[in-house]
Amino acid sequence: MAEPKKLYIKTYGCQMNVYDSERMVEAMGGVGYVETDRPDDADMILLNTCHIREKAAEKVYSELGRLREFKDAKPDLKIGVAGCVAQAEGEEIMRRQPLVDVVVGPQSYHRLPQLEAKARAGEKALDTDFPEEDKFENLKQRPKAMRGPSAFLTVQEGCDKFCAFCVVPYTRGAEVSRPADRILTEARDLVERGVREITLLGQNVNAYHGAGDGGDWGLARLIWALNDIDGLERIRFTTSHPNDMDDALIAAHGECAKLMPYLHLPVQSGSDRILKRMNRSHTAEQYLRLIERIREARPDILISGDFIVGFPEETEQDFEDTMDLIRAVRYGTAYSFKYSTRPGTPAAERDQVDEDVKSDRLQRLQALLSEQQKAAQDAMVGQEVGVLFEKTGRHEGQMVGKSDHLHAVHVQAPLDVKGQVRRVQIVESGTNSLSGTLI
Ligand code: SAH
Ligand code: SF4
Ligand code: F3S
Repeated sequence: MAEPKKLYIKTYGCQMNVYDSERMVEAMGGVGYVETDRPDDADMILLNTCHIREKAAEKVYSELGRLREFKDAKPDLKIGVAGCVAQAEGEEIMRRQPLVDVVVGPQSYHRLPQLEAKARAGEKALDTDFPEEDKFENLKQRPKAMRGPSAFLTVQEGCDKFCAFCVVPYTRGAEVSRPADRILTEARDLVERGVREITLLGQNVNAYHGAGDGGDWGLARLIWALNDIDGLERIRFTTSHPNDMDDALIAAHGECAKLMPYLHLPVQSGSDRILKRMNRSHTAEQYLRLIERIREARPDILISGDFIVGFPEETEQDFEDTMDLIRAVRYGTAYSFKYSTRPGTPAAERDQVDEDVKSDRLQRLQALLSEQQKAAQDAMVGQEVGVLFEKTGRHEGQMVGKSDHLHAVHVQAPLDVKGQVRRVQIVESGTNSLSGTLI
């Protein structure tokens, strides 16, 4: 048998890209490729890219420049660009960086084997279509290898919301939900291979409305069906939009045993004026009431969010409104960014905020969020939590896992806890993680 070819894949951006990279490895497995973690050993190098902010997109070009040495050492090496930069910039990538042999968008990566073959035949290969066929159905030849205890599963993709700052509706296309039975089959298959925790993914995951028994299912219905799978112990989902947080989903947070007490619910700004300019179609007050209702259903839920500072026309008062909202919510963790102009989006054309003002606001906002993050973590001390152990720690005899609330937890424990959810008493809160003892 011929020696397998080797694929090195580097992933940027969100969890959906992580999921997509796994699918691309499997697709290439069908034509004799195995994954390698050494770029110098690879027959194909693939960058799975992100276009969300300018820095993310620019990283791709500097990384491509660094790949020249591998191509010089091995002229047969094929270089591909996948993901959201591929979708947004298409052929421009090959023009700017002639090293690139393959460009493949997020909706056509099931065609990667054909594109690779075309590149092997000496042609440039580009596919950034939004094809009719279901890419997930075309990727069924999964190798049945065992996997780590936690996995992502894409259930919904794309977005119809068109927030004024965001490229996702352009790079990922219109919102599409996968049928419920296919998701359940994939989930059962993951559990057979050792997975104990599944994180359902979608750019707007709580807008999920896939075909199921008796009509379309919402996300809550899907979660309840997953809850019945023996061997699956934890369910999470990300990322949600406030406007799609329906009653059934809020109730599930209180009632569904396997649904974890953690919710990523980005608000972006606490100023109604800015929210409107962002096209977020809800007010700060509506968001706060929503958080209240979610906490009524599940009092210990940990709320996480995303913020953009320095959106066009943002005043000091708008920014202070965001700080007030953060104080009112008390976030367990959050991601925050300076607004970055994205070509083709409505906000790119508007009056921009000075870079120094953005930096100053980001610093103040992050100081407040880190205080809250530390407070939420410290509040776990003395509590008993579930921990899903994933790997060994840095110290002798130490194992590391994630708590129900998604905190990293270090515990002295035998190796065989790996892949299990165990009860742990939290005894200490460090800089970025907790430590505890097995109960
Ligand atoms: N679908 C998710 C988020 C997708 S992008 C949602 O609706 O919330 C992830 C985060 O990147 C966003 O929540 C936002 O905070 C940030 N982001 C998106 N576009 C941005 C831009 N142009 N500049 C800065 N941050 C941006
Ligand atoms: Fe982007 Fe999220 Fe807004 Fe959709 S809802 S446009 S993905 S920020
Ligand atoms: Fe980035 Fe595309 Fe995800 S732009 S955040 S990789 S959807």
